[in-house]
Amino acid sequence: MTGASSGIGAASATALAAHGFRVICAARRVDRIDALAADIGGVAVACDVTSPADVRRLAEIVGDTLDVLVNNAGGAFGSDEVARADIEDWRAMYDVNVLGTLTVTQALLPALVASGDGVLINMGSTAGRAAYEGGGGYTAAKHGVAVMTETLRLGSSASRSGSRRSPPAW
Ligand SMILES: NC(=O)c1ccc[n+]([C@@H]2O[C@H](COP(=O)([O-])OP(=O)(O)OC[C@H]3O[C@@H](n4cnc5c(N)ncnc54)[C@H](OP(=O)(O)O)[C@@H]3O)[C@@H](O)[C@H]2O)c1
Repeated sequence: MTGASSGIGAASATALAAHGFRVICAARRVDRIDALAADIGGVAVACDVTSPADVRRLAEIVGDTLDVLVNNAGGAFGSDEVARADIEDWRAMYDVNVLGTLTVTQALLPALVASGDGVLINMGSTAGRAAYEGGGGYTAAKHGVAVMTETLRLGSSASRSGSRRSPPAW
């Protein structure tokens, strides 16, 4: 569980533990994940999902098999209209929501596959389906998460069936 230190991630980690999962709680705020892991019998791992070194360490701690990966780390920074948006806010949102999800998925996918029945959950948002005023950077990032997830699903079914779809010609 990435982004386990607060909000949806902490609540989901608690719910998963209540259903018998040993939850690896990853986030940057170590005091919070330490307390959560102690509470639910999980494991706390300090991890910034935008740091490849942190994610490599997370993968080492996860080990060879993993039943469920929840890519929950993310969020919205800034709510300026597109014309005045701060490009650093947009970069930060793309980094954590899209590239963070990509980095963790790439690192842990082998362990999910090795489990034989792994489940990947990428935390989306209505912002990944529709636009709203002031939401340009967040909606762009969450649309990115949605499309990355759909593309991964296509790739997985192509691999399973042994056939590869040709990329569209545009
Ligand atoms: N709240 C909503 O209404 C809503 C609606 C739809 C979707 N979402 C999505 O749900 C997810 C959780 O949001 P929330 O509402 O529960 O917000 P939150 O309480 O702010 O939680 C965000 C979590 O992401 C973690 N995080 C942020 N940047 C990170 C990074 N670089 N590396 C590792 N962890 C990082 C934070 O942990 P640290 O700061 O400790 O690292 C925190 O645990 C996000 O992906 C958000 O976009 C939220």
